[in-house]
Amino acid sequence: MSHDTIIPQPGILNITPYVAGKSAAKGGNRVTKLSSNENPLGPSPLAKAAYIEAAGALEVYPSSDHTNLRAAIAEVHGVKAERIICGAGSDEIISFLCNTYAGPGDEVLYSEFGFAMYPISAMTAGATPVKAAETNLHADVDALLAACTERTKLVFLANPNNPTGTMIPEAEVTRLAEGIPAQALLVLDGAYAEFIEGFKGHAALVDARDNVVMTRTFSKIYGLGGARVGWGYGPAHVIDALNRVRGPFNVSAAALAAAEAAVQDTKYTAHCRAENAKWRAWLAEALTAIGLPSSESFTNFIVPHFPSAEAAAEADAYLQTRGLVVRALNGYGMPEYLRITIGDEIACRAVASTLTEFMKGARA
Ligand SMILES: Cc1ncc(COP(=O)(O)O)c(C=O)c1O
Repeated sequence: MSHDTIIPQPGILNITPYVAGKSAAKGGNRVTKLSSNENPLGPSPLAKAAYIEAAGALEVYPSSDHTNLRAAIAEVHGVKAERIICGAGSDEIISFLCNTYAGPGDEVLYSEFGFAMYPISAMTAGATPVKAAETNLHADVDALLAACTERTKLVFLANPNNPTGTMIPEAEVTRLAEGIPAQALLVLDGAYAEFIEGFKGHAALVDARDNVVMTRTFSKIYGLGGARVGWGYGPAHVIDALNRVRGPFNVSAAALAAAEAAVQDTKYTAHCRAENAKWRAWLAEALTAIGLPSSESFTNFIVPHFPSAEAAAEADAYLQTRGLVVRALNGYGMPEYLRITIGDEIACRAVASTLTEFMKGARA
């Protein structure tokens, strides 16, 4: 077979494919997966029940306009239903944004340690991804503004960010929205927003401005990563454009039903938020005490700093011998760090005791 005649669009083969968090450990040990920032408590029981119930009508196409889910999101998050678009994960919303607003010759800007799907989706659309340096693992608004050009069409900022776990203040985000060029749209990725009590993911900034969009997901606190549901919230002109790109049945009926039940179960969400905050603080303190400090995390993971890239790689291997699978960050240009999802109590204690052994000189 020759590839001389059937050729992908320019730039497609330059894309570095996304690497998902590992779900197996070397040696086939039983695994605790702490590599993809999933909810260790799983989804609300009500979401599971809704998903199973949807199996009774699999022959029927799902809702095309997602009316019920948008209404539930609007009520719980205090946003306007008509300004919401739902997708198969927020990845799909990111991809809609790139396909709608960026193309060959355009630039898509994001911060140095920004989420890996931003450059992938930008390049899929034929656009050029551009990185702006961070300061101490925090997005730097001055650097982002300095990197804007007349070609910048999209600026992505996850706040809080993956994989650093850090966050910048609302006033800085507002300054970014005010300072980007007139032809650019600011995308505020709120995948981890629900882990912060009372935080609305900058929804008020979206309401107040014409050039800001927010993306959100059901994959993190809602524990529905396997169902693939996310949403976007933006000005009417943006949501209208994105809906033209969206497939008519892009979210499955079972996923819609599960997400609707999940968002309405605010008691369960609060429980997950509290458990995460408790074990995140515990683990961060335990690791700091053994010489592995981390920046304050606003998410469901922490990112301890190892003495060297080699030490981080060895610790990763050592954790795997105990079936603890975390995320190495070489692909993000952070080889001295590991990203560790906050698991349940057993998982957090296992991570702390294994890394304590490691720091005392044990090796894989
Ligand atoms: C910052 C950020 N944005 C978006 C996503 C995509 O999530 P999903 O497509 O599951 O909604 C993730 C997933 O890890 C993320 O960390």
